[in-house]
Formats: sequence, structure tokens, C-alpha cells
Amino acid sequence: MAQAFLHNPSPLLPTRSAPRQAAWNAKPPHLAFEAFEGLAPEAESAAVPVAAQALAEQSVFDEITQGLLQQPATISPKFFYDQLGSELFESITRLPEYYPTRTEHAVMQQHAAEIAAAVGQGRTLIELGAGNCEKARALCRTLAPACFVGVDISADFLQGAVARMREEFPHMDVRAVGADMTRGVTLPADLPRTGRLVFYPGSSIGNFDPPHALMLLEQMRELVDGEGEPGADGGLLIGIDLPKEVEVLEAAYDDAAGVTAAFNLNVLTHVNRLIGSSFDPAQWRHLAFFNTLQSRIEMHLQAMSPLQVRWPGGGVRDFAAGECIHTENSYKYTLPAFTDLLARAGFSRARAWTDPRGWFAVVHAQP
Ligand code: TRP
Repeated sequence: MAQAFLHNPSPLLPTRSAPRQAAWNAKPPHLAFEAFEGLAPEAESAAVPVAAQALAEQSVFDEITQGLLQQPATISPKFFYDQLGSELFESITRLPEYYPTRTEHAVMQQHAAEIAAAVGQGRTLIELGAGNCEKARALCRTLAPACFVGVDISADFLQGAVARMREEFPHMDVRAVGADMTRGVTLPADLPRTGRLVFYPGSSIGNFDPPHALMLLEQMRELVDGEGEPGADGGLLIGIDLPKEVEVLEAAYDDAAGVTAAFNLNVLTHVNRLIGSSFDPAQWRHLAFFNTLQSRIEMHLQAMSPLQVRWPGGGVRDFAAGECIHTENSYKYTLPAFTDLLARAGFSRARAWTDPRGWFAVVHAQP
């Protein structure tokens, strides 16, 4: 069941000694990175070794088809982010119903001086899931980091964003790393190991179930610990969406203009391209609701009639009318619950800033 980890509703948190190997992926973690090797900015035109590319493609094929064959079927949310998916996501962040992005921005603006004083100047800023780098751009203006590393699974999209960062901050050392962070992030070897600040905004941590959020936080703690460097003096700045009225939550994931629906449905087109499957997005509809028991928004794609999906190699899955594919969760943590998770991941110190309505928190955590 390793592939189902994003959707595993288990509320139980493993202890720090729990086995961790199966969780990210059944495949050796290094395989996932080889497909991205050619994407370092200094090697934009370098060809990816054919064998490595084939291996990475095979692991994507296996991951997707295994998810489709599960009961209920799942597609990992990381496959949302092809070029169109990244653009649609950018539109979501500007929707009137989608409060997290602008609330987080307001918190960061409102408390900019305090946050800057807490995290420190001249750091190596590492943004995970950097996307268009807009949030890091604002942070760079107040923090003046010596170095910025944008990490994102959508490497093409990231390249453009990173190029704009270089233009605005010509004296900053700017890097792009195309990586699937659920399989571990390998940073450039020459990156400073001290003074690192990992930036993970947008409440993206909420898209992992608690056991996997814990593992990701542990991975972040290792990054800010300079991967074992004594006196690393690193920190994590992370955005957390807090629980609130169900109507507010549900509208944020099911907007009137239908952008979130288009974003959710686009995963089917992307999957067709990745594995050659036969999804017809017109036969599916977007579904989003708050699961109070698990304190999470759930996103699904629901079959509007009985249908069959096929893919190369003889793969097939039948869906009954009304049957769903689970595509994403967005957990809403209270601050005490999140601070507890941070502590389990080895961040013993945490300080949070929120907006006046208490809708969103920005947390600075240190080992
Ligand atoms: N992590 C954010 C959230 O859960 C952004 C996000 C991820 C999102 N996937 C999404 C927003 C799908 C809307 C729909 O809110």
C-alpha cells in the first residue's frame, strides 16, 4: 500500500523510530532524480541519459497504474502539476474563495520585521514546491539571502520563474532543482550547509497525511541541520492552514468559476500523457468536501456514468457511476497539533504568527 500514502486516512502518528523506508516509494529514491539531472540551470540543454529516463518513466507508470487499481482508486496529487496544472494552480491562488494564499501573504507582510528578525539575514533560502517563486520573491526583499534554491516537481515551469528571480536579484546565487520532494531532495553539493532556511509556504504540508507530513518535516530538519554539519543554525518557515467554518473551507476548494474543478480534472489529461491511458475528462466531475473527523478537505473525481479506462500493457479499470478517484487531501491543523508534529520531527522550538481571524499561521521552527 506504499503508493496510497497520500490518501491513507490513518490518524495515528508513527513514533520517530517507526520504519520509514516504505513510505515515500517502493522504488530506490535515487531513481526519481535521474530524470531531472539535465535540468540544472547550468545544463539546461544537456540530454538526460536514456537508460535513466526510461527507469524514471517506468516508476511513474508503475506508481500511477498501481494507484488506479486500488480500491478506491487514487492518483497522487503530484501529477496535478504539468504546465497547464501549474498555471491553473496559479489562478486558484487568486480566486476570491481561495483565502490561504492571500491570508498567508498578509501574515507575512504584517509581521515582516519580526519574521525577518527571527529567521536572520544572508541565509541560504530553500523553497520547496517553489512554483512561480512569487512567495520567495517577497521574502527575498526583506531577508536578502545570499543564495536562493527553488525546488519543484514541475521543472520546466520552475526554470522560467528562477530566471525572473535572477533578473530581480542579480547579486543572489540562484539555483533551480527539479525534484519530487516526496522521494527526497538532493541539493547541489556546493550549497552552504550552515545558515539554511527551508521555506515551505502555502500549507502544502497539509496535502500529506500526518505520518507522511512527519517524515517530510524530518527530511526538512535534516536539510536545515546542514545534513549533519555542526552548528548549522538552520530553520524552517512554514505555512499552515488552520481549521475554520466548513462553508469557508469548502468554497476554497470548489469555486464558483470552476477553476479548481478544471485543475482537478486536468490530472486525467496529464495521466493520459504520462502513461497513455484513455481517460475522457468530460465523463468525470470534481468533488470537494470537508471530512470533519480527519480534519481535511478531500478532493475526488467522480465518474458520471459507468465507464472503463485502459492503458498500455493490457491495464484496465472499470468504474461504476458515482465511483470516485481520490486525488488529494488538505489537512487543517490546529497550532497545538502542528507544534506537536514539529516536535516529533525534531523541531523543538516554534513560533507562530497568524491573521486576526486566526485562519492561517506562518510558523518558524528550529531544531
Ligand atoms: N496546499 C494548498 C492547499 O491545500 C494548495 C493546494 C494544493 C490546492 N492542491 C490544491 C488548492 C488543490 C486547491 C486545490 O490548499
